[in-house]
Amino acid sequence: MSAVPAVKTDNPYIDFWNAVLVPKFNTWRHILAGGLQRHSEKVFPALPLRAGDRVLDVGCGWGDTAIELARRVGPAGSVVGLDCCNAFLEAGRADAKTAGLTNLTFVEADVQTHPFKPVYDFCFSRFGTQFFENPVSGLRNMRQALRPGGLMTMIVWRERADNPWLILSKEILLRYLPAVKEDAATCGPGPFSMTDTEVVTKQLQIAGYTDAQFERIDAEVFVGRDLDEAVAFQLAIGPAGEVYREAGKLAERRHDELVAALKAELKAFVRPEGVMMNSSSWMVTARNPG
Ligand SMILES: C[S@@+](CC[C@H](N)C(=O)[O-])C[C@H]1O[C@@H](n2cnc3c(N)ncnc32)[C@H](O)[C@@H]1O
Repeated sequence: MSAVPAVKTDNPYIDFWNAVLVPKFNTWRHILAGGLQRHSEKVFPALPLRAGDRVLDVGCGWGDTAIELARRVGPAGSVVGLDCCNAFLEAGRADAKTAGLTNLTFVEADVQTHPFKPVYDFCFSRFGTQFFENPVSGLRNMRQALRPGGLMTMIVWRERADNPWLILSKEILLRYLPAVKEDAATCGPGPFSMTDTEVVTKQLQIAGYTDAQFERIDAEVFVGRDLDEAVAFQLAIGPAGEVYREAGKLAERRHDELVAALKAELKAFVRPEGVMMNSSSWMVTARNPG
């Protein structure tokens, strides 16, 4: 089983992001960034942004959506990208500098507790809110960052059955390895914690939002340039990566067998452009009534 990361904050999920997931995400950025973008690119054209708006991007990771938002609001507007991992933000700062953007800043903080002022016109999050230790606290704090009437849009994964890119490899590994123990160190509630529209609507209501709406987004995502890379990606990241990591020495001993089993199933997804699998998310919008 993987070691519990060294405690740096009072939030074990944030410690886990920093110690365990940042290095993995950085290794697999060339796959992850493109896949996540397939979802936001369907959302961005319709976002109700105006030149001059003030925008907050929550759980912004490497900051690619924050950079796009900064372009959209123009030099009269401004964007703050906030994340609990400074290593991600350093990449965002470098990319913003290369892009010549001066209306974008990055802040390292826990979204759930950061003392926001109600100054933002728009709050965005691409796959960030599913990892909050307390989703209602996080969503409420995001609402409190909005001016009265301000809008929040978050993208979250839909149900497992429609996300084979995240779940198929886990199911295969579980034929060989034990399920992850309840007390395993983790990054938070996880990618499928906001799939249920009734639960999320309730969370949004309790957090003080009105007008919750859900729109389904489907996209085929790239999971590797070839079968070898797709299998290595699945063993490192996401629900399959968690099963593999938590199985420790047993997984290492059975490595070749696991790789063969994954290859046998994933070969059905090989296309000329690489290994492509289906994914599905919700674009959720809600308003701060003020
Ligand atoms: C799946 S990644 C998505 C990153 C980015 N939005 C993207 O789409 O590329 C989730 C992000 O949420 C951040 N995160 C998780 N919990 C957080 C919290 N409580 N406060 C701030 N950021 C958080 C993580 O550090 C990570 O960058």
